[in-house]
Amino acid sequence: MLHLKLETDPRWVTIVESNLEEILTDHAWCEQKAATNAITIITLNSEKEDLVTELLELAKEELEHFQMVHNIIKARGYTLGRERKDHYVNQLYKFMNKGGNRVQSMVDRLLFSAMIEARSCERFKLLSERIKDKELSKFYYDLMVSEAGHYTTFITFARQYGQDVDVDQRWKELVEFEGELIKSYGKNESIHG
Ligand SMILES: [Fe+2]
Ligand SMILES: [Fe+2]
Repeated sequence: MLHLKLETDPRWVTIVESNLEEILTDHAWCEQKAATNAITIITLNSEKEDLVTELLELAKEELEHFQMVHNIIKARGYTLGRERKDHYVNQLYKFMNKGGNRVQSMVDRLLFSAMIEARSCERFKLLSERIKDKELSKFYYDLMVSEAGHYTTFITFARQYGQDVDVDQRWKELVEFEGELIKSYGKNESIHG
């Protein structure tokens, strides 16, 4: 799936099913973070018209996802809990080279974003295939398709604007890094947990 090194253990779905209110709260905040991240990339690259145009659309979609999750939470009589930290994303962030030039930083940020989309997509696919709740199964299938498109958007811009960077090599390094990182996850009821 999207060339990730390690697939999630399907037993993670059983953990998720034991606490749907928690996974939905965590998921809602993942979508908020995805929208915020897209806006940060826009802020850092305002002169790139095509990138700004596409990432504005992407940010809108992430906010729509946030709204969709919130609607499910409300319909089920749950409460949207306080923002959850995403330890996986925080650890993945450490891969990014903060000392490089502007192009290198941008490529790293785009690849970091693509990786989160890829892993989210993998998790959503697993949920759509295995979760017993019919509404959520359909919901996660639709989101999987959307996040796969976002993955492509980020990778495409990394290649387009990373002229002096070996983008494929950097992606390979990130896949390795993530492959090690994810080994300690898959054990709790959060989207990346
Ligand atoms: Fe999303
Ligand atoms: Fe996304």
